[in-house]
Amino acid sequence: MSTHVDRKRITIPQIRSMKGRGSIVSLTAYTTPMAQLMDEFVDLIIVGDSTGMVAYGFNSTMSVTLDMMINHGAAVTRGVSKACVIVDMPFGTFQESPQQAYRNAARVLVETQAQGVKMEGGEELLETVDFLVRRGIPVMPHIGLTPQHANVQGGFKAQIRTEEEINAFIKLGRAFEDAGAFALLVEGAFEEAARKVTAAVSIPTVGIGASPECDGQVLVTEDILGLFSGYTPKFAKRYVDLSQPIKEAFSRYAHEVRSGEFPAMEHCFGVRKNSEGG
Ligand code: KIV
Repeated sequence: MSTHVDRKRITIPQIRSMKGRGSIVSLTAYTTPMAQLMDEFVDLIIVGDSTGMVAYGFNSTMSVTLDMMINHGAAVTRGVSKACVIVDMPFGTFQESPQQAYRNAARVLVETQAQGVKMEGGEELLETVDFLVRRGIPVMPHIGLTPQHANVQGGFKAQIRTEEEINAFIKLGRAFEDAGAFALLVEGAFEEAARKVTAAVSIPTVGIGASPECDGQVLVTEDILGLFSGYTPKFAKRYVDLSQPIKEAFSRYAHEVRSGEFPAMEHCFGVRKNSEGG
């Protein structure tokens, strides 16, 4: 498979212009092979800090570091020739100040060739989004259920149900748009909240567990492939269970090594014909 990256990737302004069509298709990826497999089907690949739970076995995203995200971001862009790629800023790398956020987000863009960053948060992030966008770093704020705030929010629960919460949510969405965000990631919000914030802003909303009312959808790839055995939320539709064929292949390999069936002659170097069977 080619790792050639042509420069015709979907741009951030193109993602922004997909507002209102309900059709932005997004998935997460952390590795080159997975990015190569999904590239032709998706518009936006998010290198999520969910990698901490999905690939590293952490029980939250809190232990993910900037270097981990940079390594995964660079691996993903090496596998992509079409999709737009953005990288999640992990906990503790952007909340301190706009300057800290700029320094770390610039590293992400320079070292990964991703086109933008995603940051979890609320109104405390407005100044940072404005600061970054003015300096050339596209930002997608992640609002609603924000796993980096699990310790404060009391776990992974759907958010935004009362009228007051919905109004504050709409206000927040508009404020992020005014600050220059190119899109909003809306996680775990009730349908009414997702519908109203989507209608209130002229940038696209990409939902995860946030109803069909958003301008696009994202899911964690390992959830849809049956490759994550930890907590799987109700909204994570499983399209295939790859864990079974993978286990079957491991089992056959183990059996063949133990029985001497593998490796056969065709898998060996320098075996002379007349030594076959000898
Ligand atoms: O970390 C992650 O994978 C996410 C998804 C919601 C895109 O934030």
